[in-house]
Amino acid sequence: MNSILPNSGNRWRGVIHAYKEYLPVTDATPIISLNEGNTPLIRVDNFVNAIGGEFELWLKYEGLNPTCSFKDRGMTMAVSKAKERGAQIVICASTGNTSAAAAAYASRAKMKCVVLLPNGKIALGKLAQALMYGATTIAIEGNFDEALRIVRELGETGKVEVVNSINPVRIEGQKTAAFEICDQLGKAPDFHFLPVGNAGNITAYWKGYKEYFAAKKSDKVPRMFGFQAAGSAPIVDGAPIANPNTVATAIRIGNPASWEQANCALKESNGFIDKVTDDEILAAYKLIARTDGIFVEPASAACLAGLINCVKAKRIPVGSVITATMTGHGLKDPDNAIKTAGFEPFVVEPKKEAVMKVIGL
Ligand code: F0G
Repeated sequence: MNSILPNSGNRWRGVIHAYKEYLPVTDATPIISLNEGNTPLIRVDNFVNAIGGEFELWLKYEGLNPTCSFKDRGMTMAVSKAKERGAQIVICASTGNTSAAAAAYASRAKMKCVVLLPNGKIALGKLAQALMYGATTIAIEGNFDEALRIVRELGETGKVEVVNSINPVRIEGQKTAAFEICDQLGKAPDFHFLPVGNAGNITAYWKGYKEYFAAKKSDKVPRMFGFQAAGSAPIVDGAPIANPNTVATAIRIGNPASWEQANCALKESNGFIDKVTDDEILAAYKLIARTDGIFVEPASAACLAGLINCVKAKRIPVGSVITATMTGHGLKDPDNAIKTAGFEPFVVEPKKEAVMKVIGL
């Protein structure tokens, strides 16, 4: 099994350097990287005990990527390939994380970046990122699906490079997370849990697990378990949703671009897809922060909510090894965090006694 540092020397130089042989790059590809990847795989026994599970759960903490979500893996590929082709402008529709990653990598590549966002439905941290990285930021009076339709149309003009996951090299970059999990664990997990929005990531993980297995780098492939938010669950419900809604704005998507590929991953892996309510998402979101000190965004917690339901339904055999992707960092969405925490700061006079009183000493 590979060590987790397949780079020359000890310095991690990002997913393209680490996994070149599995990616469509050549010596002519300019590698635009922010040293993404190599994120921690954290075992969370406290959470498992709290939910009454009898298995190993490992969280792939993708919030620790350079722009604080898993999107950096695909974006290093998409922007590098766009640069190689001589593109000047990259564009994407986004619920926030893709736009943050596109804006950052485009900045590093000295390219113009345009992002289309659903007006008022993106977490504050993500909006701050697009603006700070200098992207032309356009708020559409509509939802993500409508923004993606416009981006597809603009892509057809040939004047802009689309860096949504309909661009296949995005999937190529994102599959490296499955490689890392196998490398870190020393084997493939029995189950992989993840949230599903536009369905690029479930597609990418499944591709990665299959390729690593074929390359004899892992001993098996996991069953893929995906979760959508109840108000935005077109795959589970079997039909597009015109007005998707959920507190987990990252996965507020009614017509996923990679729907077919997600179904394929589910079928081939003997997987499972279900929906979870906003209340279940927020409960899991708070629980993982309180049991194991891991702060993720609500969309990431959707798969933990799904796991809680799977435990209740006795769907997980005792002793299983489960991995779950924590797709984005909790700091992306401070509004939901402050609302969900359940209490506010104690405001006291600047006196030792006042502090002691709060502590109960
Ligand atoms: N979790 C987070 C934090 C996300 O930002 C996304 C997607 C997903 C899960 C779902 O992944 O779309 O590959 O099924 N965010 C996209 C965006 C749509 O624009 O940032 P998916």
